[in-house]
Amino acid sequence: MDIGTRLFRSALLGLAGNRVAKKFSERYGMKLGASRFVAGETMEAAIEQARRLNQSGVMVTLDYLGESVTSIEEAEACERAYIDLLQAIRTANIEGNISLKPTQFGLALNEDLCLAGIRRVTREAAERGIFVRLDMEDSPWTDATLRIVRTLKAEGCGNIGTVIQACLYRSRQDVRALSAEGINLRLVKGAYKEPPSIAIASKRKVDANMRHLIKTRLDSGVYTAIATHDEEIIQWVKSYTRTHNVSRSAFEFQMLYGIRTPLQVSLARQGYTVRSYVPFGSSWYPYFVRRLAERPANVLFIARSLFKK
Ligand code: FDA
Repeated sequence: MDIGTRLFRSALLGLAGNRVAKKFSERYGMKLGASRFVAGETMEAAIEQARRLNQSGVMVTLDYLGESVTSIEEAEACERAYIDLLQAIRTANIEGNISLKPTQFGLALNEDLCLAGIRRVTREAAERGIFVRLDMEDSPWTDATLRIVRTLKAEGCGNIGTVIQACLYRSRQDVRALSAEGINLRLVKGAYKEPPSIAIASKRKVDANMRHLIKTRLDSGVYTAIATHDEEIIQWVKSYTRTHNVSRSAFEFQMLYGIRTPLQVSLARQGYTVRSYVPFGSSWYPYFVRRLAERPANVLFIARSLFKK
């Protein structure tokens, strides 16, 4: 990644946490182009998109947007939204599970409160046969997120897993430990702005670490979601699993809603398990900004679509 792109990305990621920019954007709703990456503002809209993806052979993980809540009431509202979502998944017969963010459940306010909310959702999900994945947010929350997953797993929740980011130096060690504990992981490159003291700055090295982590997981046999749109990595996974006799039931590919959809469908047709991450809700702003930062060309795309109207 050249220096200009890196600075641009860093500036955009800085905007993800900016409250003024957030207010401005949400006022203009999905017209800013967020609908390319967000399934809708309502659960009904997301269920409709999930149904369409299921029809093309792609499974889903539904994510109710919202992060860094600032009150217990907001955390409780989020928990209720997830309980409704579990019900909607079953009622609509969707092939899908859920992803959630610990700061949405009040992690920044009180870890015990957050754990209790996630525990209730995970148990409700278990009763409906639905898997729950805790997304990984920025590094101040890594330890607490892993603690919550380990606590719930030790309590007998077999339907919980989390995410590891290849950009962090600590991740090789985390992956080894979590694999030994049999914890289901999604591997990603990492979407947040992190200090160089803890994160790999070079994109090439992050990509290499991603492959290293994938290999460790595939060799471990513990179920792994490989979440990337990087076609070279996807090709490499296809070839590695073929030559090392890794069963297709030991892993799945995951991609984001609205990105590389034809590739998602094509992999599903080839017999791979593919899951699309389908976010919805009115608090879409930080999620949208992270998608722009991943690919500067997206900013141009959005700008063009604004001027076309
Ligand atoms: P890379 O950035 O190298 O992109 C490879 C190619 O994919 C690009 O050349 C481009 O063509 C396409 N592409 C990538 N991003 C795009 C975009 N935004 N718009 C259009 N095209 C794009 N992160 C995190 O920190 N915590 C988490 O919990 C998750 N969860 C998660 C779930 C799922 C299902 C996915 C796919 C990703 C995440 N991420 C995440 C985000 C992840 O860390 C990463 O930022 C993005 O996946 C982009 O990285 P790639 O692996 O796609 O590679």
